[in-house]
Amino acid sequence: MTQSNAATYEPIETASVDELRALQLDRMKWSIAHAYAQVPHYRQAFDAAGVHPNDLNELADLAKFPFLMKQDLRDNYPFGMFAVPRERVVRVHASSGTTGSATVVGYTQADLHTWSTVMARSIVAAGGRAGDIAHNAYGYGLFTGGLGAHYGAELLGCTVVPMSGGATERQVALINDFKPRILFVTPSYCLNLIDEMERQGLDPAASSLEVGIFGAEPWTDELRAEIEERFGLDATDIYGLSEVIGPGVAQECAETKDGPTVWEDHFYPEVINPDTGEVLPDGEQGELVFTSLTKEAFPVIRYRTRDITTLLPGTARTMRRMARVTGRTDDMLIIRGVNVYPSQIEAEILRIDGLSPHFMLEVTKDGNMSTLNVKVEPQPGVRVADEADRLLQAIKTNVGVTTAVEIADVGTLPRSQGKAQRIVNK
Ligand code: DLL
Repeated sequence: MTQSNAATYEPIETASVDELRALQLDRMKWSIAHAYAQVPHYRQAFDAAGVHPNDLNELADLAKFPFLMKQDLRDNYPFGMFAVPRERVVRVHASSGTTGSATVVGYTQADLHTWSTVMARSIVAAGGRAGDIAHNAYGYGLFTGGLGAHYGAELLGCTVVPMSGGATERQVALINDFKPRILFVTPSYCLNLIDEMERQGLDPAASSLEVGIFGAEPWTDELRAEIEERFGLDATDIYGLSEVIGPGVAQECAETKDGPTVWEDHFYPEVINPDTGEVLPDGEQGELVFTSLTKEAFPVIRYRTRDITTLLPGTARTMRRMARVTGRTDDMLIIRGVNVYPSQIEAEILRIDGLSPHFMLEVTKDGNMSTLNVKVEPQPGVRVADEADRLLQAIKTNVGVTTAVEIADVGTLPRSQGKAQRIVNK
């Protein structure tokens, strides 16, 4: 393991593996017993599976316990999964519920402190420090991005600019005036900010920003390269989801940029085969599953995230990393029998000079047969020649699927205000 000289926020980040595993086992026993004692859903699910919290003697015993599914959360809407009296819950967040009814999550004072701590850790891992000005363009409200980043940055001792999403012109003006060092934003909305700066005649690369903390949606190393070059900053990947806590479940370290480190002293990861539920060894790709180890109000035991990734050994920290999330099982397209994630198309687009990262995927269903039309804008000022053809060939060779490709006029495809919506079903 390479021990880095870069700053850490807490000693546990570089503790020995033995110390980490012992802490996880203690905490896991507490979390499973807490969930079983306080939440009817867990009691019923464990009883039905014939397992009891006392059956957990080592970390691998976790595999005996049943999974928690998104549907379970919906069935217990709004507060049925809370493990403390509602009066002890000081904050709720909710998912937008694009694919069903909303799910609600809750936090005690201690949970909020845990969240701020893992966020502060994440900011330090990304290269931020106390005293920095942090421009926060994650949306404030029921979405966890805005408030999660906000309180983490405050705890670390940053000067937070609580901008939220949207009002792109104003965002650019404030970045120009306040000269923040840190930027929190989704990678797709970041592109909007860069374009707007250029539109205002500013040079994005000359801005004060040095540390970009980008997440909430899948993105690629190709997009990282593009953003880093145009914006002149270090871009790192932050991962999280409301059900587990919000942003700050995992954060990439600036000194290695090799995938987010999972803060696994609080969130224990497993990767499973999504079809069989079998736990896969580290290094194999599958669906990410989380067990919270310290949360009071909303413990999750083996929550199936539907995110596809691989667990990897620690590098800059003792804790394991996750590979960049390829996509969600829900966003996976099946085009003529081939599984395709939007992020794979993004990677192919950005390898072609002259094409921009603004793209959309139109899926047309004809009976059981789906066809895919990729619409992409060229870089401004580029005269398009054979780019469409090259992209079509690259997708065919590297992704293994035949698509139509259409070059759209610059500025005509919808721009993201937060999480990008790449897929349109026709
Ligand atoms: O998106 C929390 C968050 C806010 C993370 C800000 C990072 C920054 P949800 O709205 O519950 O929470 O959506 C969670 O977004 O299951 C993934 O599918 C996706 N996602 C989040 N971060 C990443 C990432 C927030 N870095 C869902 N890469 C997750 C890929 C991500 N997908």
